[in-house]
Amino acid sequence: MTRTQDLPPRLTRLTFHGPLSESRATGLVERLALGKPSGVLDIGCGWGELMLRVLDAVPGATGRGIDLNAEDLARGRANAAARGLGDRAEFLEQSATDAALDPADLVLCLSASHALSGAEPPHHTTEALKALRRLVTPGGRVLLAEGYWQRPPTQTELSAMWPDARADEYDDLAGLVDRAVAAGFRPAWVETANRDEWEAFESGYQSDKEIWLAAHPDHPLAEETRDKLDRHRGTWLRGYRDVLGIAYLTLVPVA
Ligand SMILES: C[S@@+](CC[C@H](N)C(=O)[O-])C[C@H]1O[C@@H](n2cnc3c(N)ncnc32)[C@H](O)[C@@H]1O
Repeated sequence: MTRTQDLPPRLTRLTFHGPLSESRATGLVERLALGKPSGVLDIGCGWGELMLRVLDAVPGATGRGIDLNAEDLARGRANAAARGLGDRAEFLEQSATDAALDPADLVLCLSASHALSGAEPPHHTTEALKALRRLVTPGGRVLLAEGYWQRPPTQTELSAMWPDARADEYDDLAGLVDRAVAAGFRPAWVETANRDEWEAFESGYQSDKEIWLAAHPDHPLAEETRDKLDRHRGTWLRGYRDVLGIAYLTLVPVA
């Protein structure tokens, strides 16, 4: 019988579930805290690390994270409790798609626009931006982390990415920011994850499972785990490395 402690670990080496360095996170939190949001809504929060840091920086602010993943939500609740934020942060297991959510002064949507729209990319980004525009209070802020092409992908790169990857799935950075402007925002800050952040994220994403696999070559889950790791590494190193970007857009709603 497989003992629980023998199972492959998941995402234990990641602080954020995306390419985000400590220094960028610190800058984001400092700027977002300047607006003294009283309420923070985190769409597709995972374990909500950035939301917790904003709550830590803004005394009295409350936060609500929404996600489908019970394990990540439990990690968020435990982190909140460990930092004395348990009474100001709630982590709800529900879908953000078509949910009746209360507007907030600060709305985070980090690599989770698909949680707000089932439309085909890139139209889902427009739909998500429209939803975010409805969800942010006047004078508030939205922080959107969204994919964009750093340069047009080649056909070889596309075929190494996820199934049915298409060149028109993402905008370039200018197109992505235009999309936010068309949805009723002005871009207060535009920044993008760099290669170091991507490499730390992609390595951290796989690393705990790689180390587990090396120590458990005969485990019943070893073959499946090796296949998944090899496939994911291929999509990154042969597919989207240096091609797919993540932009962090701090957006101000306008009339
Ligand atoms: C790449 S992760 C980002 C997590 C977090 N925002 C962060 O940056 O650390 C995307 C998250 O979106 C969540 N998600 C996907 N569809 C969702 C939905 N319909 N409603 C809520 N969350 C959803 C996933 O469970 C996952 O935790």
